[in-house]
Amino acid sequence: MKILTILGARPQFIKAAPVSRELRKNHTELIVHTGQHYDPNMSDIFFEELNIPKPDYHLGVGSANHGKQTGEMLAQIETIILDEKPDYVLVYGDTNSTLAGSLAAAKLHVPVIHIEAGLRSFNKKMPEEVNRILTDHISEFLFCPTDTAINNLHNENITRNVINVGDVMYDAVVYNKKLAMEKSKAIEENNLTEKDYYLITIHRAENTDDDTRMNNILESFKQINGIKVWPIHPRTKNMLLNKGVDLSVIPGLKVIEPVGYLDMLALENGAKKIITDSGGVQKEAYFMKVPCVTVRDQTEWVETLEGNANILVGTDVNKIIEAVNMEVNPIYKELFGDGFSARKIVQIVTN
Ligand code: UD1
Ligand code: UDP
Repeated sequence: MKILTILGARPQFIKAAPVSRELRKNHTELIVHTGQHYDPNMSDIFFEELNIPKPDYHLGVGSANHGKQTGEMLAQIETIILDEKPDYVLVYGDTNSTLAGSLAAAKLHVPVIHIEAGLRSFNKKMPEEVNRILTDHISEFLFCPTDTAINNLHNENITRNVINVGDVMYDAVVYNKKLAMEKSKAIEENNLTEKDYYLITIHRAENTDDDTRMNNILESFKQINGIKVWPIHPRTKNMLLNKGVDLSVIPGLKVIEPVGYLDMLALENGAKKIITDSGGVQKEAYFMKVPCVTVRDQTEWVETLEGNANILVGTDVNKIIEAVNMEVNPIYKELFGDGFSARKIVQIVTN
Protein backbone atom coordinates (compact mmCIF):
# COMPACT_ATOMS: atom_id res chain seq x y z
CA MET A 1 0.00 0.00 0.00
CA LYS A 2 1.03 3.56 -0.56
CA ILE A 3 0.48 5.87 2.42
CA LEU A 4 0.89 9.63 2.31
CA THR A 5 1.75 10.95 5.78
CA ILE A 6 1.17 14.61 6.64
CA LEU A 7 3.38 16.15 9.33
CA GLY A 8 3.96 19.74 10.37
CA ALA A 9 4.34 20.38 14.09
CA ARG A 10 6.74 19.18 16.80
CA PRO A 11 4.48 16.61 18.50
CA GLN A 12 3.60 15.10 15.11
CA PHE A 13 7.23 14.29 14.35
CA ILE A 14 7.45 12.44 17.66
CA LYS A 15 4.22 10.52 17.01
CA ALA A 16 5.34 9.64 13.48
CA ALA A 17 8.63 8.08 14.56
CA PRO A 18 7.25 4.73 15.82
CA VAL A 19 4.53 4.55 13.15
CA SER A 20 6.86 5.19 10.19
CA ARG A 21 9.23 2.56 11.50
CA GLU A 22 6.43 -0.07 11.49
CA LEU A 23 4.76 1.13 8.31
CA ARG A 24 7.87 0.92 6.19
CA LYS A 25 8.39 -2.77 6.98
CA ASN A 26 5.72 -3.72 4.43
CA HIS A 27 4.38 -0.57 2.82
CA THR A 28 5.46 2.50 0.90
CA GLU A 29 5.28 5.72 2.87
CA LEU A 30 5.73 9.21 1.49
CA ILE A 31 6.10 12.04 4.01
CA VAL A 32 4.81 15.57 3.44
CA HIS A 33 6.23 18.18 5.84
CA THR A 34 3.95 21.21 5.68
CA GLY A 35 6.54 23.51 7.23
CA GLN A 36 4.19 24.64 10.01
CA HIS A 37 7.15 24.31 12.39
CA TYR A 38 10.46 25.20 10.78
CA ASP A 39 13.06 26.33 13.36
CA PRO A 40 15.76 23.62 13.50
CA ASN A 41 14.96 22.99 17.19
CA MET A 42 11.23 22.66 16.40
CA SER A 43 11.67 20.36 13.39
CA ASP A 44 15.00 19.01 12.02
CA ILE A 45 16.30 17.92 15.41
CA PHE A 46 13.44 15.40 15.74
CA PHE A 47 14.01 13.91 12.29
CA GLU A 48 17.69 13.44 13.18
CA GLU A 49 17.31 12.13 16.74
CA LEU A 50 14.38 9.83 16.02
CA ASN A 51 15.57 8.63 12.61
CA ILE A 52 12.41 9.77 10.90
CA PRO A 53 12.83 9.42 7.14
CA LYS A 54 13.48 12.67 5.30
CA PRO A 55 10.27 14.23 3.96
CA ASP A 56 9.55 13.55 0.30
CA TYR A 57 7.78 16.90 0.02
CA HIS A 58 8.44 20.06 2.00
CA LEU A 59 5.71 22.66 1.55
CA GLY A 60 7.47 25.51 3.38
CA VAL A 61 4.18 27.05 4.49
CA GLY A 62 5.53 28.60 7.72
CA SER A 63 3.62 30.78 10.17
CA ALA A 64 0.44 32.69 9.30
CA ASN A 65 -3.13 33.16 10.47
CA HIS A 66 -5.21 29.99 10.56
CA GLY A 67 -7.00 30.49 7.23
CA LYS A 68 -3.92 31.36 5.21
CA GLN A 69 -1.75 28.69 6.81
CA THR A 70 -4.34 25.93 6.47
CA GLY A 71 -5.40 27.08 3.00
CA GLU A 72 -1.87 27.03 1.59
CA MET A 73 -1.31 23.55 2.95
CA LEU A 74 -4.66 22.38 1.57
CA ALA A 75 -3.89 23.54 -1.97
CA GLN A 76 -0.42 22.01 -2.03
CA ILE A 77 -1.47 18.70 -0.44
CA GLU A 78 -4.29 18.38 -2.99
CA THR A 79 -1.77 18.58 -5.84
CA ILE A 80 0.44 15.95 -4.20
CA ILE A 81 -2.49 13.58 -3.67
CA LEU A 82 -3.52 13.98 -7.33
CA ASP A 83 0.05 13.24 -8.46
CA GLU A 84 0.87 10.42 -6.05
CA LYS A 85 -2.54 8.68 -5.86
CA PRO A 86 -1.98 7.21 -2.37
CA ASP A 87 -4.21 4.46 -0.97
CA TYR A 88 -4.48 6.35 2.33
CA VAL A 89 -3.62 9.72 3.80
CA LEU A 90 -2.34 9.50 7.39
CA VAL A 91 -2.69 12.41 9.81
CA TYR A 92 -1.85 12.88 13.50
CA GLY A 93 -3.47 14.85 16.29
CA ASP A 94 -5.16 18.19 15.87
CA THR A 95 -2.99 20.87 14.29
CA ASN A 96 -3.71 22.94 11.19
CA SER A 97 -1.53 20.46 9.27
CA THR A 98 -3.89 17.68 10.41
CA LEU A 99 -6.97 19.46 9.13
CA ALA A 100 -5.37 20.43 5.82
CA GLY A 101 -4.29 16.84 5.19
CA SER A 102 -7.59 15.24 6.12
CA LEU A 103 -9.69 17.78 4.20
CA ALA A 104 -7.60 17.54 1.04
CA ALA A 105 -7.84 13.74 1.13
CA ALA A 106 -11.55 13.51 1.94
CA LYS A 107 -12.47 15.85 -0.93
CA LEU A 108 -10.55 13.58 -3.31
CA HIS A 109 -12.17 10.46 -1.80
CA VAL A 110 -8.88 9.14 -0.45
CA PRO A 111 -9.52 7.43 2.90
CA VAL A 112 -8.02 9.16 5.92
CA ILE A 113 -6.28 7.42 8.82
CA HIS A 114 -6.43 9.58 11.95
CA ILE A 115 -4.03 8.71 14.74
CA GLU A 116 -4.91 10.19 18.13
CA ALA A 117 -8.58 10.39 17.17
CA GLY A 118 -11.47 11.10 19.53
CA LEU A 119 -9.90 13.61 21.90
CA ARG A 120 -12.16 16.39 23.06
CA SER A 121 -11.83 19.39 25.35
CA PHE A 122 -15.43 20.47 24.60
CA ASN A 123 -14.08 23.98 24.07
CA LYS A 124 -14.53 25.04 20.46
CA LYS A 125 -12.57 28.25 21.08
CA MET A 126 -9.45 26.09 20.91
CA PRO A 127 -8.20 25.79 17.33
CA GLU A 128 -7.25 22.19 18.11
CA GLU A 129 -10.85 21.26 19.00
CA VAL A 130 -12.12 22.46 15.63
CA ASN A 131 -9.33 20.63 13.80
CA ARG A 132 -9.93 17.35 15.61
CA ILE A 133 -13.73 17.32 15.35
CA LEU A 134 -13.62 17.99 11.61
CA THR A 135 -10.86 15.45 11.03
CA ASP A 136 -12.64 12.74 13.01
CA HIS A 137 -15.84 13.24 11.03
CA ILE A 138 -14.09 12.71 7.67
CA SER A 139 -11.76 9.86 8.66
CA GLU A 140 -12.03 6.21 7.63
CA PHE A 141 -9.85 4.74 10.40
CA LEU A 142 -9.97 6.38 13.83
CA PHE A 143 -7.18 5.14 16.05
CA CYS A 144 -7.90 6.23 19.61
CA PRO A 145 -5.39 6.34 22.47
CA THR A 146 -7.91 5.80 25.30
CA ASP A 147 -11.42 4.53 26.06
CA THR A 148 -12.46 8.11 26.76
CA ALA A 149 -11.64 8.94 23.14
CA ILE A 150 -13.73 5.97 21.94
CA ASN A 151 -16.70 7.19 24.01
CA ASN A 152 -16.34 10.72 22.68
CA LEU A 153 -16.61 9.42 19.12
CA HIS A 154 -19.56 7.15 19.96
CA ASN A 155 -21.32 10.18 21.42
CA GLU A 156 -20.93 11.86 18.03
CA ASN A 157 -22.29 8.74 16.29
CA ILE A 158 -18.91 7.78 14.88
CA THR A 159 -18.63 4.02 15.44
CA ARG A 160 -17.12 2.42 12.33
CA ASN A 161 -13.40 1.59 12.43
CA VAL A 162 -13.04 3.26 15.83
CA ILE A 163 -10.34 1.34 17.69
CA ASN A 164 -8.42 1.85 20.94
CA VAL A 165 -4.85 0.94 20.05
CA GLY A 166 -3.14 2.83 22.89
CA ASP A 167 -0.97 5.88 22.49
CA VAL A 168 1.86 6.11 19.97
CA MET A 169 3.50 8.73 22.24
CA TYR A 170 3.83 6.00 24.83
CA ASP A 171 5.53 3.83 22.17
CA ALA A 172 8.00 6.68 21.61
CA VAL A 173 8.76 7.00 25.32
CA VAL A 174 9.21 3.24 25.79
CA TYR A 175 11.54 3.12 22.80
CA ASN A 176 13.63 6.19 23.68
CA LYS A 177 13.70 6.54 27.46
CA LYS A 178 16.79 4.42 28.09
CA LEU A 179 18.64 6.12 25.24
CA ALA A 180 17.67 9.53 26.64
CA MET A 181 18.99 8.65 30.09
CA GLU A 182 22.28 7.45 28.57
CA LYS A 183 22.84 10.22 26.04
CA SER A 184 21.28 13.39 27.39
CA LYS A 185 23.42 15.86 29.30
CA ALA A 186 20.55 18.33 29.73
CA ILE A 187 20.49 18.08 33.52
CA GLU A 188 24.23 18.73 33.94
CA GLU A 189 24.41 21.34 31.18
CA ASN A 190 21.69 23.38 32.82
CA ASN A 191 23.25 22.99 36.30
CA LEU A 192 20.20 21.17 37.61
CA THR A 193 19.95 18.64 40.41
CA GLU A 194 17.67 15.61 39.95
CA LYS A 195 14.31 16.04 41.67
CA ASP A 196 15.21 19.55 42.76
CA TYR A 197 13.68 21.60 39.93
CA TYR A 198 10.38 22.23 38.22
CA LEU A 199 10.04 21.81 34.44
CA ILE A 200 7.79 24.31 32.67
CA THR A 201 6.29 24.41 29.15
CA ILE A 202 3.65 26.92 28.02
CA HIS A 203 2.49 27.47 24.44
CA ARG A 204 -1.30 27.17 24.13
CA ALA A 205 -2.95 30.07 22.33
CA GLU A 206 -5.57 30.25 25.10
CA ASN A 207 -2.73 31.24 27.48
CA THR A 208 -0.23 33.10 25.29
CA ASP A 209 -2.90 35.22 23.60
CA ASP A 210 -4.68 36.24 26.80
CA ASP A 211 -2.84 38.87 28.87
CA THR A 212 -4.67 38.10 32.11
CA ARG A 213 -3.99 34.39 31.91
CA MET A 214 -0.34 34.87 30.90
CA ASN A 215 0.26 37.45 33.65
CA ASN A 216 -1.23 35.07 36.22
CA ILE A 217 0.98 32.25 35.02
CA LEU A 218 4.09 34.44 35.26
CA GLU A 219 3.05 35.72 38.70
CA SER A 220 2.74 32.13 39.92
CA PHE A 221 6.24 31.38 38.61
CA LYS A 222 7.51 34.34 40.68
CA GLN A 223 5.93 32.91 43.79
CA ILE A 224 7.02 29.28 43.35
CA ASN A 225 10.19 28.77 45.37
CA GLY A 226 13.12 26.91 43.88
CA ILE A 227 14.65 26.30 40.46
CA LYS A 228 12.39 26.32 37.43
CA VAL A 229 13.63 25.38 33.94
CA TRP A 230 11.57 26.51 30.95
CA PRO A 231 12.36 25.44 27.38
CA ILE A 232 10.35 28.21 25.79
CA HIS A 233 8.16 27.63 22.73
CA PRO A 234 8.79 30.24 19.99
CA ARG A 235 5.15 31.29 20.09
CA THR A 236 5.45 32.19 23.78
CA LYS A 237 8.88 33.77 23.38
CA ASN A 238 7.63 36.02 20.56
CA MET A 239 4.50 37.01 22.47
CA LEU A 240 6.48 37.96 25.59
CA LEU A 241 9.13 39.82 23.55
CA ASN A 242 6.44 41.85 21.78
CA LYS A 243 4.96 42.83 25.11
CA GLY A 244 8.36 43.71 26.58
CA VAL A 245 8.09 41.15 29.37
CA ASP A 246 11.41 40.55 31.17
CA LEU A 247 11.58 36.98 32.42
CA SER A 248 14.99 37.53 34.07
CA VAL A 249 13.26 39.19 37.05
CA ILE A 250 11.63 35.89 38.04
CA PRO A 251 13.76 34.32 40.79
CA GLY A 252 15.11 30.83 40.08
CA LEU A 253 13.82 30.77 36.48
CA LYS A 254 16.10 29.39 33.77
CA VAL A 255 14.65 30.09 30.33
CA ILE A 256 16.26 27.93 27.65
CA GLU A 257 15.66 27.32 23.94
CA PRO A 258 13.37 24.41 22.98
CA VAL A 259 15.27 21.16 23.46
CA GLY A 260 15.40 17.93 21.45
CA TYR A 261 13.25 14.95 22.37
CA LEU A 262 15.94 13.03 24.27
CA ASP A 263 16.85 16.07 26.36
CA MET A 264 13.16 16.69 27.00
CA LEU A 265 12.64 13.14 28.26
CA ALA A 266 15.66 13.52 30.55
CA LEU A 267 14.41 16.89 31.87
CA GLU A 268 10.93 15.44 32.46
CA ASN A 269 12.27 12.39 34.23
CA GLY A 270 14.53 14.46 36.50
CA ALA A 271 11.90 17.06 37.45
CA LYS A 272 10.21 17.07 40.82
CA LYS A 273 7.07 18.38 39.17
CA ILE A 274 6.05 19.50 35.69
CA ILE A 275 3.98 22.63 35.05
CA THR A 276 2.55 22.69 31.54
CA ASP A 277 -0.29 23.40 29.14
CA SER A 278 0.99 20.90 26.56
CA GLY A 279 -1.00 17.79 25.69
CA GLY A 280 2.05 15.65 25.02
CA VAL A 281 3.92 16.81 28.10
CA GLN A 282 0.95 16.02 30.40
CA LYS A 283 1.06 12.44 29.14
CA GLU A 284 4.82 12.12 29.31
CA ALA A 285 4.70 13.33 32.92
CA TYR A 286 2.31 10.45 33.59
CA PHE A 287 4.48 7.93 31.71
CA MET A 288 7.52 9.10 33.72
CA LYS A 289 5.53 9.05 36.99
CA VAL A 290 6.32 12.72 37.61
CA PRO A 291 3.44 14.76 39.13
CA CYS A 292 2.02 17.36 36.78
CA VAL A 293 0.14 20.65 37.16
CA THR A 294 -1.81 21.66 34.04
CA VAL A 295 -2.51 25.36 33.54
CA ARG A 296 -5.61 24.95 31.40
CA ASP A 297 -9.35 24.90 32.05
CA GLN A 298 -9.88 21.56 30.34
CA THR A 299 -7.74 18.55 29.55
CA GLU A 300 -8.30 15.91 26.89
CA TRP A 301 -6.27 13.50 29.01
CA VAL A 302 -8.77 13.11 31.86
CA GLU A 303 -7.33 9.71 32.85
CA THR A 304 -4.18 11.43 34.11
CA LEU A 305 -6.18 13.37 36.73
CA GLU A 306 -6.82 10.31 38.89
CA GLY A 307 -5.08 10.45 42.26
CA ASN A 308 -3.82 13.96 41.43
CA ALA A 309 -1.13 12.56 39.12
CA ASN A 310 -2.09 15.60 37.07
CA ILE A 311 -3.88 18.56 38.65
CA LEU A 312 -5.94 20.78 36.37
CA VAL A 313 -5.78 24.29 37.80
CA GLY A 314 -6.58 26.86 35.13
CA THR A 315 -4.61 30.07 35.61
CA ASP A 316 -5.60 31.28 39.08
CA VAL A 317 -2.32 32.21 40.81
CA ASN A 318 -3.20 30.69 44.18
CA LYS A 319 -4.52 27.48 42.63
CA ILE A 320 -1.33 27.02 40.61
CA ILE A 321 0.89 27.54 43.66
CA GLU A 322 -1.25 25.32 45.87
CA ALA A 323 -1.13 22.48 43.30
CA VAL A 324 2.62 22.85 42.80
CA ASN A 325 3.21 22.65 46.56
CA MET A 326 0.75 19.81 47.15
CA GLU A 327 2.24 16.45 48.15
CA VAL A 328 0.71 13.77 45.93
CA ASN A 329 1.13 10.04 45.86
CA PRO A 330 -0.76 8.74 42.84
CA ILE A 331 -0.98 5.15 41.68
CA TYR A 332 0.12 5.13 38.06
CA LYS A 333 -1.70 2.67 35.78
CA GLU A 334 -1.14 1.27 32.27
CA LEU A 335 -3.76 3.50 30.66
CA PHE A 336 -2.10 4.21 27.34
CA GLY A 337 -1.41 0.77 25.85
CA ASP A 338 1.64 -1.47 25.99
CA GLY A 339 4.15 0.43 23.87
CA PHE A 340 3.15 -1.39 20.67
CA SER A 341 0.39 0.90 19.41
CA ALA A 342 2.13 1.60 16.12
CA ARG A 343 2.39 -2.12 15.37
CA LYS A 344 -1.34 -2.57 16.04
CA ILE A 345 -2.24 0.34 13.79
CA VAL A 346 -0.21 -1.03 10.90
CA GLN A 347 -1.61 -4.55 11.36
CA ILE A 348 -5.19 -3.27 11.30
CA VAL A 349 -4.69 -1.12 8.22
CA THR A 350 -2.86 -3.96 6.45
CA ASN A 351 -5.65 -6.42 7.13
C1 UD1 B 1 0.78 24.36 16.97
C2 UD1 B 1 -0.59 23.69 17.07
C3 UD1 B 1 -0.85 23.25 18.50
C4 UD1 B 1 0.28 22.37 19.01
C5 UD1 B 1 1.63 23.08 18.83
C6 UD1 B 1 2.74 22.14 19.18
C7 UD1 B 1 -2.29 24.61 15.51
C8 UD1 B 1 -3.46 25.50 15.39
N1 UD1 B 1 -1.63 24.64 16.71
O1 UD1 B 1 0.72 25.51 17.80
O2 UD1 B 1 -2.05 22.48 18.51
O3 UD1 B 1 0.06 22.13 20.38
O4 UD1 B 1 1.77 23.46 17.44
O5 UD1 B 1 3.92 22.81 19.48
O6 UD1 B 1 -1.96 23.90 14.59
N2 UD1 B 1 7.04 29.74 15.49
C9 UD1 B 1 8.37 29.94 15.27
N3 UD1 B 1 9.10 28.91 14.76
C10 UD1 B 1 8.57 27.70 14.46
C11 UD1 B 1 7.20 27.51 14.67
C12 UD1 B 1 6.44 28.54 15.18
O7 UD1 B 1 8.91 31.03 15.53
O8 UD1 B 1 9.31 26.80 13.99
C13 UD1 B 1 6.25 30.85 16.09
C14 UD1 B 1 5.69 31.82 15.08
O9 UD1 B 1 5.69 33.09 15.68
C15 UD1 B 1 4.26 31.35 14.94
C16 UD1 B 1 3.92 30.84 16.32
O10 UD1 B 1 5.13 30.28 16.80
O11 UD1 B 1 3.39 32.37 14.52
C17 UD1 B 1 2.82 29.82 16.36
O12 UD1 B 1 3.11 28.71 15.51
P1 UD1 B 1 1.92 27.79 14.93
O13 UD1 B 1 2.49 26.62 14.26
O14 UD1 B 1 0.94 28.63 14.19
O15 UD1 B 1 1.16 27.34 16.23
P2 UD1 B 1 1.72 26.71 17.57
O16 UD1 B 1 1.43 27.68 18.67
O17 UD1 B 1 3.11 26.25 17.39
N1 UDP C 1 9.13 18.63 23.47
C1 UDP C 1 10.47 18.64 23.12
N2 UDP C 1 11.21 19.75 23.42
C2 UDP C 1 10.71 20.83 24.07
C3 UDP C 1 9.33 20.80 24.44
C4 UDP C 1 8.57 19.70 24.11
O1 UDP C 1 10.97 17.68 22.56
O2 UDP C 1 11.44 21.79 24.30
C5 UDP C 1 8.32 17.46 23.14
C6 UDP C 1 7.66 16.79 24.32
O3 UDP C 1 8.53 15.87 24.92
C7 UDP C 1 6.45 16.13 23.67
C8 UDP C 1 6.08 17.09 22.56
O4 UDP C 1 7.24 17.89 22.32
O5 UDP C 1 6.79 14.88 23.11
C9 UDP C 1 4.93 17.96 22.95
O6 UDP C 1 4.75 18.94 22.00
P1 UDP C 1 4.11 20.35 22.31
O7 UDP C 1 4.09 20.60 23.75
O8 UDP C 1 4.79 21.33 21.42
O9 UDP C 1 2.63 20.19 21.71
P2 UDP C 1 1.29 19.48 22.22
O10 UDP C 1 1.60 18.12 22.68
O11 UDP C 1 0.70 20.36 23.28
O12 UDP C 1 0.43 19.52 21.02
